[in-house]
Amino acid sequence: MPTLNLPGVELALADQGSGRPIVLIHGFPMDHSIWAQQVQSLAPHYRVITPDLRGSGRSSVTPGKATVEQWADDMATMLDALKITEPIVLGGLSMGGYVAFRFFQAHRSRLAGLILCDTKAMADTPQAAAGRLETARRMEREGGQFLADTMLPRLLAPATLDGKPEVVDCLRKIILAGDPVGYAATSRGLAERPNFTPLLPQIDCPTLLIVGRQDAISTLAEMNAMTRAIPGSRIVEIDSAGHVTPLEAPEEVSRAMREFLDNLFAVR
Ligand code: MLT
Repeated sequence: MPTLNLPGVELALADQGSGRPIVLIHGFPMDHSIWAQQVQSLAPHYRVITPDLRGSGRSSVTPGKATVEQWADDMATMLDALKITEPIVLGGLSMGGYVAFRFFQAHRSRLAGLILCDTKAMADTPQAAAGRLETARRMEREGGQFLADTMLPRLLAPATLDGKPEVVDCLRKIILAGDPVGYAATSRGLAERPNFTPLLPQIDCPTLLIVGRQDAISTLAEMNAMTRAIPGSRIVEIDSAGHVTPLEAPEEVSRAMREFLDNLFAVR
Protein backbone atom coordinates (compact mmCIF):
# COMPACT_ATOMS: atom_id res chain seq x y z
CA MET A 1 0.00 0.00 0.00
CA PRO A 2 1.56 3.35 -0.99
CA THR A 3 2.39 5.82 1.73
CA LEU A 4 2.53 9.60 1.46
CA ASN A 5 4.99 11.43 3.65
CA LEU A 6 2.91 14.36 4.91
CA PRO A 7 3.74 16.84 7.68
CA GLY A 8 3.42 14.93 10.96
CA VAL A 9 2.08 11.72 9.43
CA GLU A 10 2.89 8.94 7.02
CA LEU A 11 -0.45 8.40 5.37
CA ALA A 12 -1.19 4.99 3.84
CA LEU A 13 -3.76 4.97 1.06
CA ALA A 14 -5.13 3.06 -1.87
CA ASP A 15 -5.65 5.09 -5.05
CA GLN A 16 -7.53 3.25 -7.78
CA GLY A 17 -9.24 4.09 -11.06
CA SER A 18 -9.34 7.38 -12.89
CA GLY A 19 -11.80 10.19 -13.43
CA ARG A 20 -13.57 12.38 -10.87
CA PRO A 21 -11.95 11.98 -7.45
CA ILE A 22 -13.87 10.27 -4.66
CA VAL A 23 -12.34 9.95 -1.18
CA LEU A 24 -13.83 7.42 1.26
CA ILE A 25 -12.95 7.55 4.97
CA HIS A 26 -13.39 4.57 7.28
CA GLY A 27 -14.92 4.45 10.76
CA PHE A 28 -13.46 3.50 14.14
CA PRO A 29 -11.89 1.04 14.92
CA MET A 30 -11.36 0.19 11.26
CA ASP A 31 -9.25 0.95 8.20
CA HIS A 32 -9.61 1.64 4.46
CA SER A 33 -10.38 -2.00 3.66
CA ILE A 34 -14.04 -1.67 4.76
CA TRP A 35 -14.56 0.02 1.36
CA ALA A 36 -13.06 -2.82 -0.71
CA GLN A 37 -16.32 -3.70 -2.42
CA GLN A 38 -17.31 -0.10 -3.12
CA VAL A 39 -13.85 0.50 -4.62
CA GLN A 40 -14.36 -2.48 -6.91
CA SER A 41 -17.68 -1.10 -8.07
CA LEU A 42 -16.67 2.57 -8.42
CA ALA A 43 -13.07 2.42 -9.66
CA PRO A 44 -14.01 1.50 -13.26
CA HIS A 45 -15.72 4.94 -13.43
CA TYR A 46 -14.04 7.17 -10.85
CA ARG A 47 -10.72 7.74 -9.13
CA VAL A 48 -11.32 6.26 -5.68
CA ILE A 49 -8.95 7.11 -2.86
CA THR A 50 -9.26 5.25 0.44
CA PRO A 51 -6.83 6.47 3.10
CA ASP A 52 -6.14 5.13 6.57
CA LEU A 53 -6.54 8.04 8.98
CA ARG A 54 -3.58 8.86 11.20
CA GLY A 55 -3.69 6.40 14.10
CA SER A 56 -5.54 3.73 12.08
CA GLY A 57 -4.59 0.95 9.67
CA ARG A 58 -1.12 1.32 8.20
CA SER A 59 -0.82 5.06 8.62
CA SER A 60 1.59 6.21 11.28
CA VAL A 61 0.43 6.21 14.86
CA THR A 62 0.14 9.42 16.80
CA PRO A 63 0.67 8.62 20.47
CA GLY A 64 -1.56 10.67 22.74
CA LYS A 65 -4.35 12.15 20.67
CA ALA A 66 -5.47 12.56 17.06
CA THR A 67 -8.33 14.97 16.33
CA VAL A 68 -11.02 15.55 13.69
CA GLU A 69 -9.30 18.84 12.84
CA GLN A 70 -6.03 17.00 12.13
CA TRP A 71 -7.75 14.27 10.14
CA ALA A 72 -9.59 16.80 7.96
CA ASP A 73 -6.40 18.80 7.37
CA ASP A 74 -4.55 15.57 6.56
CA MET A 75 -7.16 14.94 3.83
CA ALA A 76 -6.53 18.39 2.33
CA THR A 77 -2.74 17.88 2.47
CA MET A 78 -3.20 14.45 0.92
CA LEU A 79 -5.09 16.03 -2.01
CA ASP A 80 -2.26 18.57 -2.45
CA ALA A 81 0.32 15.77 -2.45
CA LEU A 82 -1.74 13.87 -5.05
CA LYS A 83 -2.08 17.13 -7.03
CA ILE A 84 -5.87 16.90 -6.96
CA THR A 85 -7.24 20.40 -7.37
CA GLU A 86 -10.73 19.65 -8.67
CA PRO A 87 -13.52 19.31 -6.09
CA ILE A 88 -13.90 15.83 -4.62
CA VAL A 89 -16.82 13.85 -3.34
CA LEU A 90 -16.00 12.95 0.24
CA GLY A 91 -17.66 9.93 1.80
CA GLY A 92 -17.29 8.87 5.40
CA LEU A 93 -18.59 6.12 7.63
CA SER A 94 -19.34 7.21 11.19
CA MET A 95 -16.00 8.69 12.35
CA GLY A 96 -15.31 9.29 8.65
CA GLY A 97 -18.53 11.34 8.62
CA TYR A 98 -17.26 13.49 11.52
CA VAL A 99 -14.14 14.14 9.44
CA ALA A 100 -16.35 15.00 6.45
CA PHE A 101 -18.24 17.59 8.54
CA ARG A 102 -14.97 19.16 9.64
CA PHE A 103 -13.65 19.06 6.05
CA PHE A 104 -16.77 20.92 4.93
CA GLN A 105 -16.13 23.54 7.62
CA ALA A 106 -12.43 23.99 6.86
CA HIS A 107 -12.09 23.18 3.14
CA ARG A 108 -15.50 23.86 1.56
CA SER A 109 -14.09 24.90 -1.84
CA ARG A 110 -12.57 21.45 -2.32
CA LEU A 111 -15.94 19.67 -2.12
CA ALA A 112 -18.34 18.68 -4.89
CA GLY A 113 -20.51 16.51 -2.67
CA LEU A 114 -20.79 14.47 0.51
CA ILE A 115 -21.75 10.89 1.28
CA LEU A 116 -22.55 10.38 4.96
CA CYS A 117 -22.83 6.74 6.01
CA ASP A 118 -24.10 5.76 9.45
CA THR A 119 -22.82 8.87 11.19
CA LYS A 120 -24.05 11.56 13.53
CA ALA A 121 -23.54 15.28 14.04
CA MET A 122 -23.87 15.48 17.83
CA ALA A 123 -20.82 15.62 20.09
CA ASP A 124 -20.35 12.98 22.80
CA THR A 125 -22.29 13.30 26.03
CA PRO A 126 -19.97 13.78 29.04
CA GLN A 127 -20.63 10.16 29.95
CA ALA A 128 -19.75 8.88 26.45
CA ALA A 129 -16.58 11.03 26.41
CA ALA A 130 -15.52 9.65 29.80
CA GLY A 131 -16.11 6.12 28.47
CA ARG A 132 -13.79 6.83 25.53
CA LEU A 133 -11.00 8.04 27.81
CA GLU A 134 -11.32 4.86 29.86
CA THR A 135 -11.26 2.80 26.63
CA ALA A 136 -8.07 4.64 25.60
CA ARG A 137 -6.35 3.83 28.90
CA ARG A 138 -7.45 0.21 28.72
CA MET A 139 -6.25 -0.16 25.14
CA GLU A 140 -2.79 1.11 26.03
CA ARG A 141 -2.67 -1.38 28.94
CA GLU A 142 -4.15 -4.53 27.37
CA GLY A 143 -4.25 -4.16 23.57
CA GLY A 144 -7.22 -4.21 21.22
CA GLN A 145 -8.83 -7.62 21.84
CA PHE A 146 -11.44 -6.31 24.28
CA LEU A 147 -12.37 -3.62 21.77
CA ALA A 148 -13.23 -6.27 19.16
CA ASP A 149 -15.20 -8.27 21.73
CA THR A 150 -17.21 -5.33 23.03
CA MET A 151 -17.74 -3.47 19.77
CA LEU A 152 -18.64 -6.20 17.28
CA PRO A 153 -22.12 -6.83 18.76
CA ARG A 154 -22.86 -3.08 18.59
CA LEU A 155 -21.36 -2.50 15.15
CA LEU A 156 -23.21 -5.23 13.29
CA ALA A 157 -26.91 -6.01 12.86
CA PRO A 158 -28.30 -9.18 14.50
CA ALA A 159 -28.86 -10.62 11.01
CA THR A 160 -25.17 -10.11 10.20
CA LEU A 161 -23.97 -11.51 13.54
CA ASP A 162 -26.16 -14.62 13.10
CA GLY A 163 -26.09 -15.16 9.37
CA LYS A 164 -22.89 -13.73 7.88
CA PRO A 165 -19.91 -15.19 9.77
CA GLU A 166 -17.56 -14.11 6.98
CA VAL A 167 -18.49 -10.44 7.58
CA VAL A 168 -18.09 -10.79 11.36
CA ASP A 169 -14.72 -12.43 10.81
CA CYS A 170 -13.59 -9.80 8.32
CA LEU A 171 -14.47 -6.94 10.69
CA ARG A 172 -12.84 -8.69 13.66
CA LYS A 173 -9.60 -9.03 11.66
CA ILE A 174 -9.74 -5.37 10.61
CA ILE A 175 -10.20 -4.26 14.24
CA LEU A 176 -7.40 -6.49 15.51
CA ALA A 177 -5.00 -5.35 12.77
CA GLY A 178 -5.03 -1.80 14.14
CA ASP A 179 -2.45 -0.45 16.58
CA PRO A 180 -3.89 -0.08 20.12
CA VAL A 181 -1.83 3.07 20.68
CA GLY A 182 -3.34 4.60 17.55
CA TYR A 183 -6.84 3.54 18.62
CA ALA A 184 -6.25 5.10 22.04
CA ALA A 185 -5.21 8.39 20.40
CA THR A 186 -8.28 8.18 18.15
CA SER A 187 -10.61 7.61 21.12
CA ARG A 188 -9.23 10.68 22.91
CA GLY A 189 -9.74 12.81 19.81
CA LEU A 190 -13.28 11.51 19.25
CA ALA A 191 -14.15 12.38 22.86
CA GLU A 192 -13.49 16.06 22.18
CA ARG A 193 -14.96 16.45 18.72
CA PRO A 194 -17.34 19.39 18.40
CA ASN A 195 -21.08 19.31 17.93
CA PHE A 196 -21.62 19.61 14.17
CA THR A 197 -25.41 19.97 14.40
CA PRO A 198 -25.38 23.77 13.80
CA LEU A 199 -23.42 23.12 10.59
CA LEU A 200 -26.09 20.93 8.99
CA PRO A 201 -28.34 23.70 7.58
CA GLN A 202 -25.24 25.32 6.04
CA ILE A 203 -24.30 22.27 3.99
CA ASP A 204 -24.80 23.51 0.45
CA CYS A 205 -23.34 20.71 -1.64
CA PRO A 206 -25.24 17.65 -2.90
CA THR A 207 -25.39 15.17 -0.02
CA LEU A 208 -26.38 11.52 0.17
CA LEU A 209 -27.01 9.79 3.48
CA ILE A 210 -26.92 6.01 3.87
CA VAL A 211 -28.05 4.13 6.98
CA GLY A 212 -28.58 0.55 8.05
CA ARG A 213 -32.03 0.28 9.60
CA GLN A 214 -30.55 -1.75 12.47
CA ASP A 215 -27.78 0.75 13.23
CA ALA A 216 -27.47 0.86 17.03
CA ILE A 217 -24.83 3.64 17.05
CA SER A 218 -26.08 6.18 14.48
CA THR A 219 -29.77 5.42 14.62
CA LEU A 220 -32.31 5.61 11.84
CA ALA A 221 -34.07 8.43 13.73
CA GLU A 222 -30.84 10.46 14.03
CA MET A 223 -29.94 9.92 10.39
CA ASN A 224 -33.43 10.96 9.28
CA ALA A 225 -33.22 14.09 11.43
CA MET A 226 -29.90 14.93 9.75
CA THR A 227 -31.46 14.45 6.33
CA ARG A 228 -34.20 16.93 7.24
CA ALA A 229 -31.57 19.41 8.48
CA ILE A 230 -29.30 19.26 5.39
CA PRO A 231 -30.97 21.18 2.55
CA GLY A 232 -31.77 19.05 -0.49
CA SER A 233 -30.17 15.90 0.90
CA ARG A 234 -31.66 12.44 0.56
CA ILE A 235 -31.31 9.22 2.49
CA VAL A 236 -31.08 5.57 1.48
CA GLU A 237 -32.17 3.16 4.22
CA ILE A 238 -30.90 -0.40 4.10
CA ASP A 239 -32.79 -3.30 5.65
CA SER A 240 -31.02 -5.83 7.83
CA ALA A 241 -27.80 -3.84 8.07
CA GLY A 242 -26.32 -2.26 11.17
CA HIS A 243 -23.62 0.39 11.55
CA VAL A 244 -21.10 -0.97 9.04
CA THR A 245 -23.20 -0.85 5.89
CA PRO A 246 -20.29 -0.97 3.39
CA LEU A 247 -19.44 -4.46 4.73
CA GLU A 248 -22.92 -5.64 5.70
CA ALA A 249 -24.74 -4.56 2.55
CA PRO A 250 -21.96 -3.92 0.02
CA GLU A 251 -24.11 -4.09 -3.11
CA GLU A 252 -26.80 -1.74 -1.84
CA VAL A 253 -24.20 0.76 -0.67
CA SER A 254 -22.26 0.61 -3.94
CA ARG A 255 -25.48 1.03 -5.93
CA ALA A 256 -26.60 4.04 -3.88
CA MET A 257 -23.18 5.67 -4.24
CA ARG A 258 -22.98 4.98 -7.93
CA GLU A 259 -26.44 6.48 -8.58
CA PHE A 260 -25.58 9.55 -6.54
CA LEU A 261 -22.21 10.06 -8.27
CA ASP A 262 -23.50 9.42 -11.79
CA ASN A 263 -26.29 11.88 -11.20
CA LEU A 264 -23.95 14.46 -9.69
CA PHE A 265 -21.46 14.27 -12.51
CA ALA A 266 -24.16 13.63 -15.13
CA VAL A 267 -22.43 10.47 -16.33
CA ARG A 268 -24.52 8.48 -18.78
C1 MLT B 1 -17.38 4.57 14.11
O1 MLT B 1 -17.91 3.61 13.55
O2 MLT B 1 -16.60 5.32 13.53
C2 MLT B 1 -17.64 4.77 15.57
O3 MLT B 1 -18.81 4.11 15.94
C3 MLT B 1 -17.71 6.22 15.82
C4 MLT B 1 -17.86 6.53 17.26
O4 MLT B 1 -17.36 5.78 18.10
O5 MLT B 1 -18.42 7.61 17.55
